[in-house]
Amino acid sequence: MKKNVGVAVLGLGWMGQAHSRSMLRIPSLFPERSVDPRLVVCADTEESRRARAVEDFGFERSVENWEEAVSADDVDAVWVTAPNMLHIPMIEAATAAGKAVFSEKPIGGKPEQAVRAYQVAQAAGVATGVGYNYLWAPLVIHAKSLIDSGQLGDITHYRGHFLSMYGSDELGLLTWRFFMDQAGYGVTSDILSHSVSMAQFLVGPIAEVTGMKNNTITHRPIAQGAAGHYGRGAPDDPKGEVENEDFASMLCTFANGATGTFESSRTMVGPESQNSFAVYGTKGALEWNLETMNELRFYRLTDDPSSGYTTIYGGDRFPYHGAFVPGQANAIGFEDLVAIEDHVFLESLAGGERFSPGFREAVDVVSVQQALIDSWTSRGWEPVVDLAP
Ligand SMILES: NC(=O)c1ccc[n+]([C@@H]2O[C@H](COP(=O)([O-])OP(=O)(O)OC[C@H]3O[C@@H](n4cnc5c(N)ncnc54)[C@H](O)[C@@H]3O)[C@@H](O)[C@H]2O)c1
Repeated sequence: MKKNVGVAVLGLGWMGQAHSRSMLRIPSLFPERSVDPRLVVCADTEESRRARAVEDFGFERSVENWEEAVSADDVDAVWVTAPNMLHIPMIEAATAAGKAVFSEKPIGGKPEQAVRAYQVAQAAGVATGVGYNYLWAPLVIHAKSLIDSGQLGDITHYRGHFLSMYGSDELGLLTWRFFMDQAGYGVTSDILSHSVSMAQFLVGPIAEVTGMKNNTITHRPIAQGAAGHYGRGAPDDPKGEVENEDFASMLCTFANGATGTFESSRTMVGPESQNSFAVYGTKGALEWNLETMNELRFYRLTDDPSSGYTTIYGGDRFPYHGAFVPGQANAIGFEDLVAIEDHVFLESLAGGERFSPGFREAVDVVSVQQALIDSWTSRGWEPVVDLAP
């Protein structure tokens, strides 16, 4: 007998739709599951999205006011997929109502907000998850097992990039992502956070950092009404100021002595979604890039003069891959990672195990972010202090 978990999704934009679609696919993807999610209620301020929620996604109902959704008796778990400034009030209300909470990253947008989310969830004793979805890529999980089993030797260096073009069009609208009070910080919250979570997952804690930031598109057309992620203005539209950073880079030292370099941008032209890492050890190296997420490049140090990087293609011999497609080198995609994280989170609710990454791991990420922010002012190296209370 499968456990029925009533789900509320708060915000049916890009990620709200991705999670809702994932939840619909879970029964057919994971026949061995012990949990069946039930799409109970979707909250969105846009009428057309509320209608889609019911008509296209099969939610039992939709509401305009998210507060009605989080406290409903038939809701067991809440997915927070609204813009960053709504994460904390939504998490506070959901945890106060005793619901499990899965929040999209970065949880708020400023380090103290992720810490607040962790605090209220701890106090309420509810289960938490955070949407660092790239940690669930089957080849990333394989990379971790190669590192953990010593196949790379001692890790000496890590390179993390998240270079995206989502803000590279100077006529791209001034949406919530570009305001300090709506998004929090810029790329450091939005996408460097993915790179930091990946580095912590693969290599371990980061001990000290220094970095810099920049803005390359300082003004954008003001959005009229509710604007989507990819909205575009006209050259003569009135413009407003971008309040948070377009670019950030960071040098770091890991607790295990390895060094690291990170770069993150939303305005660079060229890399469309280059969320990538390279890990170097004394016996080998690994490279992975979201743009080619079904390939992992592996170098093993040998005496063979023909040795070099080999490409490992994704396939059903790696964790979770076979749920989507059998065989070898048949590709999976972005939303499949969302389905995996949702499935594992739901299973953890039924089994009572702690899910990772949860809000604790989000605090690990923002502890690094706070040190980076401090280095912008001090212009020096800053120790990473654990912000968990
Ligand atoms: N993990 C990832 O790969 C990933 C990718 C994209 C976005 N995100 C995160 O997901 C979150 C949402 O981003 P998005 O790109 O889906 O945004 P989006 O702008 O596409 O969607 C936001 C949705 O929230 C709704 N909304 C706004 N105010 C609301 C309110 N008061 N009550 C209810 N709904 C409201 C909007 O109408 C919209 O439907 C952000 O925190 C972002 O950082 C994560």
